[in-house]
Formats: sequence, structure tokens, C-alpha cells
Amino acid sequence: MTAPIQIERVKKSRLSTVDFSNLGFGTYISDHMVVADYKNGEWQEPKIVPFGEMLMSPAMLALHYGQSIFEGMKAFKNKNGQISIFRPQRHHQRMNKSLERMCMPSVSEEMFITSLSSLVELDEPWIPTAEGSSLYIRPFVFATESRLGVKISDEYRFVILTCPVAPYFTKPVRVKVEEEYVRAAEGGTGYAKCAGNYGGAFYPTMLAQKQGFDQVLWTDAKEHKYIDESGAMNVMFVLNGKLVTPGLLTSLLDGVTRNSILALTQSLGIEKEERKVSIAELEEGFKNGTLTEAFGVGTAAVVSPIAAISIHGRVYELPAVTPTSFQLRAKKKLNDIRMGHEPDVHGWNHYIK
Ligand code: COI
Repeated sequence: MTAPIQIERVKKSRLSTVDFSNLGFGTYISDHMVVADYKNGEWQEPKIVPFGEMLMSPAMLALHYGQSIFEGMKAFKNKNGQISIFRPQRHHQRMNKSLERMCMPSVSEEMFITSLSSLVELDEPWIPTAEGSSLYIRPFVFATESRLGVKISDEYRFVILTCPVAPYFTKPVRVKVEEEYVRAAEGGTGYAKCAGNYGGAFYPTMLAQKQGFDQVLWTDAKEHKYIDESGAMNVMFVLNGKLVTPGLLTSLLDGVTRNSILALTQSLGIEKEERKVSIAELEEGFKNGTLTEAFGVGTAAVVSPIAAISIHGRVYELPAVTPTSFQLRAKKKLNDIRMGHEPDVHGWNHYIK
């Protein structure tokens, strides 16, 4: 990218239609979006245009063979009016890993950061400021070549949408350890943020919801003995006073929030372990009282308490979260760094204003 990004502004903003006291998650899409096309072997200059429908071929390859990946990150406005995006470089690296896994063309860091920073700056009035809310940023890439033959697409579209959001989960979640269905196997696409990983999770999640749970806790595809992650978030436990989380495998997502919380453990005074976490040790931990906390971490979920876990059909309740719980302290620290209440020693905030 050489010149500043070209911008076509909306004629009339939809901002006045937004109920900021009842945002939900993903209900409102902001006024503008970034669009860039890949053709003839290269990305064309991205543009910012009004959010709206797009003309596309029903034969485009993304719809038939699933070349479609996305990212999710957040922008915040602090009390001094400064705007920052949380760890966009790390999201960019992960997006390129997803693109590589799906045989899709990588996006340069410059194109990624410049286009999303310009979009967030333009739609600044859409950034909510209430506690726990933020502007969610959704970059995604999908195959647009119009052809039904099974092949790697030669054409793609990169789009970025943003939406003002409230916390993803409004109450502690109840999860069911999944022992029949599989989200991802080692060697598969679990570490990539491909659209199909989410679509494939809907059916088992719907079954779990019919049984009164909010999400499933995925286990390894081979033996269903070890925890992978939960729907839309990584999981962490406080076991024997240590922070324990499943180590990264190709079957689970390398979460940016997961990485951030692990980086904060030293300053929060807790030992961490990234390793295989078996269902058996969780069950043992419930029985002997050493499993004191379970929570999900993710860009959308931030830090979300898990209230109960069903293991082999038996529901175990977690102790109530208290102000001294690790998860609350971690959530506060992360929030304080993002909002500029405490020094950003890791350089995670990318300030655009
Ligand atoms: C995110 O945290 O960005 C996610 O990917 C969850 C999303 C599917 C809502």
C-alpha cells in the first residue's frame, strides 16, 4: 500500500439507530467496511466503502468448498479519548497461519494494520465506552472465483467489518464435556480460524443446549480423554493453586487472550502449566476440592466464568467466583492495560489516536 486508503463515506450514518444500552454481540454493524480483492496473483488496493450488500456469484468457491477464514479483535476508547486496538500484529500473524492452512494468499502486515486502523478511526463514534463493551473487529477472507470444479480459488475478497459489542456471555456458562462428537483432530484445521470449524460445531452444541448446557468442552479426537477448548474460547483451570491450560496442538486455537493471560501470570503471582489436561484429573479435582476455578478466555468472551461442567453425565458445580479469584484479577488487569489504567509493559495496545 502506498497512498492513503480511498474512502467512500455513507450518505447518512445509521449510528442513531443503535441502542447502546442493549448492544448484544454482533447485532449492529457500523457504517463502513474495508474491501480488497485478490486477482491476477496479487491483492488490489483496499478501499473503505459504506457497509452493505455485495454482488457475488452463487458459484463462488467459498460457498462450495469452504475456503473462508476470519479473525476477531477489539478496539477500545479510554477515558482520555485515546483509541487502541488490542494486539493487531498477533491477530495478523494468526490470520496468515489460517490463510496458509487453507491455501489462501497471505495479507501483508501493512495492508492489515493500515486498513483496520483507518476503518476504526473513521467509525470512531461507534466505539462504545460502557464497562465491558468495545468495538469488535471482524476481518475475513473468502474465495470468490466462480467455478464449480474442486480447486484452490484464484480469486479472493478481504473484508473488515466492525460492530459495537457488549460482553459475549452475560452469565457464567455451563459446559458439557463432549465425548462423542469432535471439533478438530490433530493435523486438521482446528488451529486455523476457518468458518467450517464453527459450522461443524453447531450440531453438537445444539444437542448440548437441549440438555441445558451453554457450550461443549471439546476433547481430543482420538481418545476423548483430554480437554481441547470450548465453543468460541480457550479454557483455563485453577487446579492445586496453579493456572492450568491445555497446551497448544494443531487441534486448538492459539488464542490471543489465552496468550495474554499466560503472560500476566507472573505479575498476578500464580504458577502456570501449559500441558495436557485430562477429564479424569478435572473429575478428581472436583472430588477432592483442588479444582477451584474454570473459565473461558477469548477475544469475544474475554474472561468468562464456567459455573458447571458435566463429565460422563454427572454435573459438577464450580465454587462461586469471588473478588480474589484469579479469573477476576486477570480480567481486571487485562482491562486496566487496555484502558490505560496501568502501564502497557508488553506493548499490546496499538494506538491509532
Ligand atoms: C472471537 O473471540 O473472536 C471468536 O472467534 C469468537 C467468535 C466466533 C464470536
